[in-house]
Amino acid sequence: HTTSGTPAPEAESLAAPSQGDANSHWWPNRLNLKILAKNQPARDPMDEGFDYDAEFASLDYFALKADIEELQKTNADWWSADFGHYGPFMIRMAWHSAGTYRVQDGRGGGGEGQQRFAPLNSWPDNVGLDKARRLLWPVKKKYGKKISWADLFILAGNVGLESMGFKTFGYAGGRKDVWEPDNDVYWGSETEWLGTDKRYVGNRELQKPLAATTMGLIYVNPEGPEGKPDPLAAALDIRETFARMAMDDEETVALIAGGHTFGKTHGAAPESHKGGDPEAAPIEEQGLGWKSDFGTGQGNDTVGSGIEVTWTYHPTRWDNEFFHILFAYEWEVFENEGGHLQWRPVDGGGDDMVPMAQGDGRREPRMLTTDLSLRFDPIYEKISRRFKDDQKAFEDAFARAWFKLTHRDMGPATRYLGPEVPSEELIWQDPVPEGTPLDEAGLEAVKAAIRNSGLTVSQLVSTTWAAASTHRRSDFRGGVNGGRLRLEPQKSWDVNEPAKLEQVVSVLEGIAADNGASFADVLAIAGAVGIETAAKAAGHDVSVPVTTGRGDATQEQTDVNSFSFLEPTHDGFRNYLTEGLPLSAEHLLLDRASLLGLTPSELTVLIGGLRVLGANYEDSELGVFTDRPGELTNDFFVNLLELGNVWKPVGPSESANVYECFSPGGEKLWTGSRIDLLFGANSELRALAEVYASDDAKEKFVNDFVKAWSKLVEADRFDLHR
Ligand code: HEM
Repeated sequence: HTTSGTPAPEAESLAAPSQGDANSHWWPNRLNLKILAKNQPARDPMDEGFDYDAEFASLDYFALKADIEELQKTNADWWSADFGHYGPFMIRMAWHSAGTYRVQDGRGGGGEGQQRFAPLNSWPDNVGLDKARRLLWPVKKKYGKKISWADLFILAGNVGLESMGFKTFGYAGGRKDVWEPDNDVYWGSETEWLGTDKRYVGNRELQKPLAATTMGLIYVNPEGPEGKPDPLAAALDIRETFARMAMDDEETVALIAGGHTFGKTHGAAPESHKGGDPEAAPIEEQGLGWKSDFGTGQGNDTVGSGIEVTWTYHPTRWDNEFFHILFAYEWEVFENEGGHLQWRPVDGGGDDMVPMAQGDGRREPRMLTTDLSLRFDPIYEKISRRFKDDQKAFEDAFARAWFKLTHRDMGPATRYLGPEVPSEELIWQDPVPEGTPLDEAGLEAVKAAIRNSGLTVSQLVSTTWAAASTHRRSDFRGGVNGGRLRLEPQKSWDVNEPAKLEQVVSVLEGIAADNGASFADVLAIAGAVGIETAAKAAGHDVSVPVTTGRGDATQEQTDVNSFSFLEPTHDGFRNYLTEGLPLSAEHLLLDRASLLGLTPSELTVLIGGLRVLGANYEDSELGVFTDRPGELTNDFFVNLLELGNVWKPVGPSESANVYECFSPGGEKLWTGSRIDLLFGANSELRALAEVYASDDAKEKFVNDFVKAWSKLVEADRFDLHR
């Protein structure tokens, strides 16, 4: 039974509407357009106009921090503190909150307080953290809407570190809570917790965009790959997964050792003592889970990960003892009280050095297989030895890596709030220098120059699109601002057709220089001019709004490797598709639209418009269902929905990406991609296409296209809105 009191649906029976979506049972391949309609106002309990930034600004921030620290040092009877301090527990909560972030699609991370909801609240790796979050309730209750859960989770980690003697690099608030689980994140396709069988191909190649080795873990199995206690093999997994969290070797060593300077793991007894996770626990558990019937169920008796390790002699004190201990002993693997594999010093070494979580007893320091990777992997070893001998270097590396870990998903520093925002600019923040807005005359001059430049509608629109379409609302990266389209790596991406792009960019750069404008502003204006021209040709006088004031980043301010993760392997808006992708073109399109933050109608109207404006990769004819390309008309929809025509796949139907359209008389009319045909085939998208194909919608089509376009082009103006 679930918390609803209703039996969970059996594999063979359909879910009730309150349990799930029966359509996805009947048609498992159907498009889930709901991922384009996340966080609807109907699900938001806050008053209209609620402004979290203003609330956060009015917060007595340092009083809040003091309250958190007080709480962390005060034992609560219902869930006692190990070593008298909840700091370590809350550091782990913060790390697991942020640590789901992955570079490939920018999803995951601690930006929305998702750890409150399934699946994360019930991931096996998050065992126990239900209690860490609940312990914070008195503080959350006291400060209410002035501090989001998302901000609180990370702040509690910082307070824990500071309270135990560590100086953090800083803290930024600004993570707005959401009120529903994030249903657009792909966590892997295994159907069992801790499964690994579907995410690896070939030579342990981890499927993109995943970053974890295992379903339900933040990163790697603490016991080693698939439970095999092999520190060297574990190191390879750590290197790969931490890289996918944007961490290099030094940052990785600093993070693992810095974290495991504190606290302990929990495996007093076999996991059979542990009850259901929070999402599955009985209603009387009130959202907590993993209730253990072993001993007192808490304190020294806690059954969490099932591993029972305390790393250091002083688990509530910041120092570099972890490394001294790591290198001081020879280690042997053993099976612990809970049946899991972990390590201890040989010959009973250090057996009176480590305090128990509660009471006076002492025992030996212990390590996870993955901790020993920091000693036995030759690259990690060098770094570890350096950190052992140079506490300051370790301190600095951990401070920076912790800040990056906990802020990586927040986007540029312009999105940071609060009195502890560090002043130092960091390259992973994708810094963009401040720009200067153009006055009206300046804007008109740029527009005129673009109009007279000889660049075509297709060139203008596709070039601005190339930049705007890199925007990701997941981690607030990419977009037009910064003008990075003219820099490596973007200018060399295949999807951007580098040679053609270079021609347009050099003209736009010239216009920027002549008019004292930033390249980024001129780039934004270019698309607007293209659209205005195309609308005019179709008989619509529209003005495409552009808010100027963008800055131009330099190549030095651009981490080429980090930006390479933004390179599209598919962009249905340009009918661009590379080979070997795991999903069909329409699912990939939906994924991109979700990263761009588009609604289903915005997706629809943009596709229809971009096709007739000529934004396709290599100027292909796919989906150009019009006799007057370059004019902003609703022809795409009108012609797609024309009755009597027949579409035929080119090649076998199951794998076709290209289709040909024939008139009733057998004359070949159009060629289209899967994506183009989707807007006639998918029942929900067809409903939207019908709106735009109607005789009364010609103007609406143009207006909606302009609105959707502008929303996207302005989406990264975090200097104006967050
Ligand atoms: C605890 C594994 C990296 C901070 C734990 C636990 C496990 C674990 C299994 C015990 C959970 C329990 O039973 O209560 C790993 C692995 C890592 C990793 C496999 C990567 C290879 C990190 C990082 C940090 C961190 C990067 C923070 C920077 C902590 C802390 C605790 C902990 C503070 C103690 C929590 C407490 O005392 O309740 N870790 N961890 N860990 N981890 Fe990690």
